[in-house]
Amino acid sequence: MSKENKSINEFDINLICEYFSSLERQGPGSKEATLMALSFIDNLTNKSFIADIGCGTGGQTMVLAKHTSGQIKGIDLFPNFINLLNINANKLNLQHRVEGIIGSMDNLPFQSEELDLIWSEGAIYNIGFERGLNEWRKFLKTGGYIAVSEASWFTEERPAEINAFWLDAYPEIDTISNKVALMQKNGYIPITNFILPENCWTEHFYIPQVKAQEIFLKKYKGNQTADELVANQRHEAFLYSKYKEYYGYVFYIGKKN
Ligand SMILES: C[S@@+](CC[C@H](N)C(=O)[O-])C[C@H]1O[C@@H](n2cnc3c(N)ncnc32)[C@H](O)[C@@H]1O
Repeated sequence: MSKENKSINEFDINLICEYFSSLERQGPGSKEATLMALSFIDNLTNKSFIADIGCGTGGQTMVLAKHTSGQIKGIDLFPNFINLLNINANKLNLQHRVEGIIGSMDNLPFQSEELDLIWSEGAIYNIGFERGLNEWRKFLKTGGYIAVSEASWFTEERPAEINAFWLDAYPEIDTISNKVALMQKNGYIPITNFILPENCWTEHFYIPQVKAQEIFLKKYKGNQTADELVANQRHEAFLYSKYKEYYGYVFYIGKKN
C-alpha cells in the first residue's frame, strides 16, 4: 500500500469511527435486551470477571456495570471508542470496576479460565460466530457463561434481495437452530436464545442515525467516504424495514461445560 493510500485509508477509518462515535450504540440492541440476556446468568458475584468483546463506546457495558458487581473489561479495536467508554465510566463513577482496553478479539489479553462471563453484542461476526465461540471458550471458567448477539435468519427461505445482501455482508448468517447447534458443538450448553425486539433496530439504532447523518453530511459536504457511509446506512435501514420478518439479531446464551 502506498503512503498516500494508507493516509486516505486512515482518514476513512477515522471518519467511520467519528460517525459511529456520535451514536450511543454502534449496533442494534437496547438496555432492556441487555438486561433480559443478563437475567439468565446466575453465577455472578462481586468477585466476577466479565469481558465485553467488541464493546464499541460501551452502551451495553455501562448497563452491565450498573447491574453486576464484579470487574468488567471492554475490548475494542478502535481507540476512539475505548476512549469514550473510559470517559463514560468515569462520568458514572464506574472507573474502579470498568476499564476499556484497545485490543483485537482474535488475540484477547486474558488468562486461561479467568472469565466468569463473556459478553459480545453485535460484534462476534468480526471474527465469525463459530471461531469466536471456539477460541474464546478457553478464557471461561467451567460453568462460565457466554452471551452474544448475532445476525440470524428467522425462516428457511427468504427473498433473493435480502439473501444476497447478507451473503455478501456476512456469509455465516444462519438459522437460529443452526446457530444453537454450533454453540453445542463448540462446548457450550445452550441455555436460551431470544430475538431482539424490533425497537433495538429502529428506536435504538436507525432512528438516532437520522440526525447524526444530517450533521455528518453537513460537516463533510462533498466527501465521498462520508456520502457512501451514509448511503450504506440508509440502505441497510431500508432493507431492514422491508425484510424484518426474515432476519434480525438473536441473543444466544450458553454455559461452558
Ligand atoms: C456493530 S459494533 C457493536 C458495538 C457495541 N457492542 C454495541 O452493540 O453497540 C461492532 C464493534 O466491534 C468492533 N470490532 C471490529 N473488529 C474488532 C476486532 N477484531 N476486535 C475487537 N473489536 C472489533 C468495532 O470497532 C465495533 O465497535
